[in-house]
Amino acid sequence: MSTPVLTAVAWPYANGPRHIGHVSGFGVPSDVFSRYQRMAGNRVLMISGTDEHGTPIQVQADKEGMTPRQAADKYNLQIATDLQGLGLSYDLFTRTTTGNHHRVVQDLFLGLYRNGYVVAKTQLGAVSPSTGRTLPDRYIEGTCPICGYDGARGDQCDNCGNQLDPADLINPVSRINGEKPEFIETEHLFLDLPAFTEALGGWLSTRTQWRPNVLKFSQNLLDDLRPRAITRDLDWGVRVPLDGWRDAPMKRFYVWFDAVIGYLSASVEWARRTGDPDAWREYWSGDARSYYFMGKDNIVFHSLIWPSLLLGYNGAGGSVSPGGQPGAFGTLNLPTEVVSSEFLTMSGSKFSTSRGTVIYVHEFLEEFGADALRYFISTAGPETQDVDFTWEEFIRRTNFELANEWGNLVNRSISMAHKNVGAVPRPTAPQQADAELTALSAAAFDTVGAHLERSRFKQASSEAMRVVTAANRYLSEQEPWKLGDDPSRRDTVLHTALQVVSDANALLTPFLPHSAQQVHEALGGSGVWATQPELREVEDLDTPDSSYPILTGDYGAEQARWESAPIEVGRPLAKPRPLFAKLDPKLAETGPSWAPIAPE
Ligand code: MF3
Ligand code: ZN
Repeated sequence: MSTPVLTAVAWPYANGPRHIGHVSGFGVPSDVFSRYQRMAGNRVLMISGTDEHGTPIQVQADKEGMTPRQAADKYNLQIATDLQGLGLSYDLFTRTTTGNHHRVVQDLFLGLYRNGYVVAKTQLGAVSPSTGRTLPDRYIEGTCPICGYDGARGDQCDNCGNQLDPADLINPVSRINGEKPEFIETEHLFLDLPAFTEALGGWLSTRTQWRPNVLKFSQNLLDDLRPRAITRDLDWGVRVPLDGWRDAPMKRFYVWFDAVIGYLSASVEWARRTGDPDAWREYWSGDARSYYFMGKDNIVFHSLIWPSLLLGYNGAGGSVSPGGQPGAFGTLNLPTEVVSSEFLTMSGSKFSTSRGTVIYVHEFLEEFGADALRYFISTAGPETQDVDFTWEEFIRRTNFELANEWGNLVNRSISMAHKNVGAVPRPTAPQQADAELTALSAAAFDTVGAHLERSRFKQASSEAMRVVTAANRYLSEQEPWKLGDDPSRRDTVLHTALQVVSDANALLTPFLPHSAQQVHEALGGSGVWATQPELREVEDLDTPDSSYPILTGDYGAEQARWESAPIEVGRPLAKPRPLFAKLDPKLAETGPSWAPIAPE
C-alpha cells in the first residue's frame, strides 16, 4: 500500500560548514530512510534547508565582520554543497530567508494568534552591558535553579531537561564574552504552552513506536510546561505581522519559532515549484505519515513545541485540540515520529574549535567518498547512544566490511562470469545450496525493510550484510573456479551469485547509493538506479531579482526497487572496477593530515 511520507529533516544553522557529527544526527539517517521508502513504492517528500535567522547567524557574522545576510549566503551554499556531496536526496533543500518562508511563518502565526494561543507579556530580557545588545537565552550560562547543574543555558538545562528563563539562572554569564548580563523589561509574545499539556500528553501516549529515550524525555517535560517567548529583541528574523510589531526595528520572531515552521513552508515552496501549488497537502493530512530527523538537542522543539504550534493552528479541527478554527492551510498532521540520534563526538582528533574537535564533511568526502561515511554512520553511528568517532573503527568498517566483504563479492562474481561467459550465465538444475542462498536474500527484503521502517539502521545494515557474508561463504564452498570441466554447474553457481549480488545491491542501496549505481552498471544495467541530488540556482518565488541555490532531484525516475528482481540471462558483462579502495591501516594510528589524531 502506497502512502505519502513526509521526511522532515532538521535545518542546519547557516553558521559554518557541517561536521560529521551534524550529518550523523539529521543527515544520513533521514536519507537512508527516504531512499528506502521510495524503493518500497511510497511517495516521499523530503524537505529541509538552512536555518538562517537569529543569534546563531548574527554571532557568526560578527565574528567574520559580515552582515547576517552575507554570512547566511556563504554558509547556505557551503552546507548545500556538503549535503549534495553526501548524496542526501532532498526534494527541496531551501533556506529560511525566502519570501515564501516569511509569508508561511506569518500565516501560521496569525492562525495561532486568532485561536487565542498567543499572549503578550512583559519580561526581563538580558542585555550585554558592553554592547547594549540583547543576549539570547542560549548564550547565557549559569547554574540550573532546579537541579543545580553548572552548565545550564538560558533556554534549557541539558542535565534535567527543564525549560528555563535566563533570569532564573544562578550566577548567569554571557557565553560570548563572559560578562554578567543586565536584565531589562521588554514586551514579548508568548505561546501558551500549558494550554496544550493535556492534548500533548494524550498524543504522546499514542506514540509507542518511538525510540524509548525520545518518548520518555518528552513525556518528562510535560509536567512543567510554561508559556514560551516566541519573539526576540533582534533586527534579524521574520517580522511579527501585528499592529505595533510589524515595523518595530528590534522585534522579530525567535529563530526556533520560524525554523520549525520551515517544514511547512518548504513543503509549500516545493509544491509551488512543481507547478501544482496544492501538491504539499497530501503530505500533511489524512493518512500521510511524517518522520522528523535530528540530533537529541532538538527533541523538545519537535516533540512538544512544533506539535503545540500545530495543535493551536488546527484548533477544533484537530482531534485533540482545545479550541479555535484551522486557518487556510487546513488541519495539519502532527509528527508520526520524532527520530532523534544521540551525539557523535570526536575526542580523538587534534582539530579543535571553541566547542571541541571537528572533522568536516567536505574534507572527509574528498578523501574517502560519501558511501564510506554513510556506511560508518549507519552501522556504527550514534543511533541510540553517544559514540566517539575513531579512525580505527572507520578503517575497520571500510576495509573489512565494504572492501573485503561487499566489494570483493561483487568483484569476484562479476569477474568470473565476465571471464567465463562474458554475460549473465544461464542456470540449470539448481541444487539445495543455491536455493537456500537465494531464499535467504529474497527474505531479507522483509527483515531489512521492517528495520528501516522503524529507523533501526544498525540492525538493518547488519541484516543486509548477513546476505553478503552468506554469499561469500557460498562461493568459497562451491568453488566455481574449479568447475571448468562442469560448465553447466559453474554457470548455475555464478548465476546464483550474481542474483544475490543484485539483491544485496538493492538491500544496500539506501546506505550506499553511489556504489549501488556502480554495481547496477557492472551487472549490465543502464540508466539511473539511484538518483543523486542536484544543486540548482532558482529565482525567489516572491522577491523579485533575488535567487538562491536549492537541492532537488528527479527521484521518480530512479529504477531502484525494494524487491528481488530476477537478473536477465545473457546480459553482457564487462570487467568490473573495484568498488571500494582499501585504506592504509596506518591511518588508524595517525588519522589523515587534515584531522590528525591527538597524541595521548
Ligand atoms: N538549526 C537548529 C540546530 O542546528 C535546528 C533547527 S531544526 C528546525 O540545532 F526544526 F527548526 F527546523
Ligand atoms: Zn537542571
